[in-house]
Amino acid sequence: MPESILVTGGRRLSGSVTVGGAKNSGLKLIAAALLAPGVTTIRNMPDIADVDTMSDVVAGLGARVHREAHTLVVDATELSSYEAPYEMVAKMRASIIVLGPLLARLGRARVAMPGGCNIGSRKIDLHLRGLAQLGVEITSGHGYIDAAAPAGMRGAHIILDFPSVGATENLLMAGSAASGTTVIENAAREPEIQDLIAFLNSMGARIEGAGTSTVTVEGVSEFHPTDHSVVGDRIEAGTFLVAGALAGGSVTVRGADPAHLELVLSKIAAAGVDVSTGPGEVTVRRDGPLRAVDLATLPYPGFPTDMQPQFMVLTSVAEGTSVITENVFESRFMFADELTRMGADVTIEGHRALVRGVSSLSGAPVKSPDLRGGAALVLAGLVAEGQTVVGDVHHILRGYEAFVPKLTALGADVTFIDPDA
Ligand code: UD1
Repeated sequence: MPESILVTGGRRLSGSVTVGGAKNSGLKLIAAALLAPGVTTIRNMPDIADVDTMSDVVAGLGARVHREAHTLVVDATELSSYEAPYEMVAKMRASIIVLGPLLARLGRARVAMPGGCNIGSRKIDLHLRGLAQLGVEITSGHGYIDAAAPAGMRGAHIILDFPSVGATENLLMAGSAASGTTVIENAAREPEIQDLIAFLNSMGARIEGAGTSTVTVEGVSEFHPTDHSVVGDRIEAGTFLVAGALAGGSVTVRGADPAHLELVLSKIAAAGVDVSTGPGEVTVRRDGPLRAVDLATLPYPGFPTDMQPQFMVLTSVAEGTSVITENVFESRFMFADELTRMGADVTIEGHRALVRGVSSLSGAPVKSPDLRGGAALVLAGLVAEGQTVVGDVHHILRGYEAFVPKLTALGADVTFIDPDA
């Protein structure tokens, strides 16, 4: 696996790029396929390392997974295990999403406590508290969570402290197999949650309120296999749009719904970039200078934390001072240290970053701290003087399919290198 990406800065970008299915939906749909005995087909599945990991997780539970191009087929006719072991969960935190489907299908789950992306303490207390309200008995020890509902789960009224994406998803799946009605208040509203609800309903679940913060789930006694296409990846799209905005020229991104990017697009426009949208596509064009823009991350429809590092790069070379407030993941500013090594002027105070625009960045060796931070460093390299070598790119490959070829097709000078070769 290549470990570094070499970026030579200074090229304008132009042309179009098509994004794949959303990582954050596709991963959950693979787990959700466990609900139904039989063969489920999931289309528009991105070809990324995290999808391979989730495929391994469900294969470890006895499902048979087969991929052909962007179609993933999950045969969950028979499950042979209810345990997601540490090796898997440590590799990818999102593995805890098997909790809900395993409880729904087998009444039992044993899942290692997650490690995961390096972006702050990521607790799972909301997942566990909600499951307990559904009647699940939970014990933990030796790094594992054991969850069991021998007499079945029963519907409950759950109010989440915070609209957690993962907790909402686990509770949607568990609640779908509980007896009676479950109401989740303060539920997450992300497009990926809406996609999961559509998927579950097509399997026989009865969920209402997708896209709102109160979701009502009528429990059902069985699920059937389905055929579904993953929603387009708004974060991958946003990343290429910021690349276009940074590097000047004109870039069209296809494959994601512009409605899912509303706030991101308004911030790109506020930064002095011309933004136009059509069905399933967005074009950014910039001739003038970039301007400072303030933003604060919040659960959807707020500004996505997964776009925060890319915007820090954008504002680092804009005229004026921008304030970026991170409300979702407390340590997501670690990436700023790397950007500072490229000449950015960023001061962090608690969960706020003050970004004073500089006239240019300078190429440097840097390391991807995590998935989005890594992608953002490659974007920084696009506008830096000279060469930037971004290390630890396995983080980027977890979530971006063909990142280097797609940037190259837009005219960027980007290539994989093996520093040890
Ligand atoms: C998902 C996304 C991730 C995105 C995030 C927020 C996947 C695979 N990942 O992560 O890319 O950045 O949503 O949009 O879909 N929290 C608790 N207790 C809990 C659960 C969460 O305190 O039980 C806190 C977390 O520490 C964090 C915040 O809530 O500070 C948001 O977490 P959550 O929405 O659950 O994110 P993930 O589902 O982990």
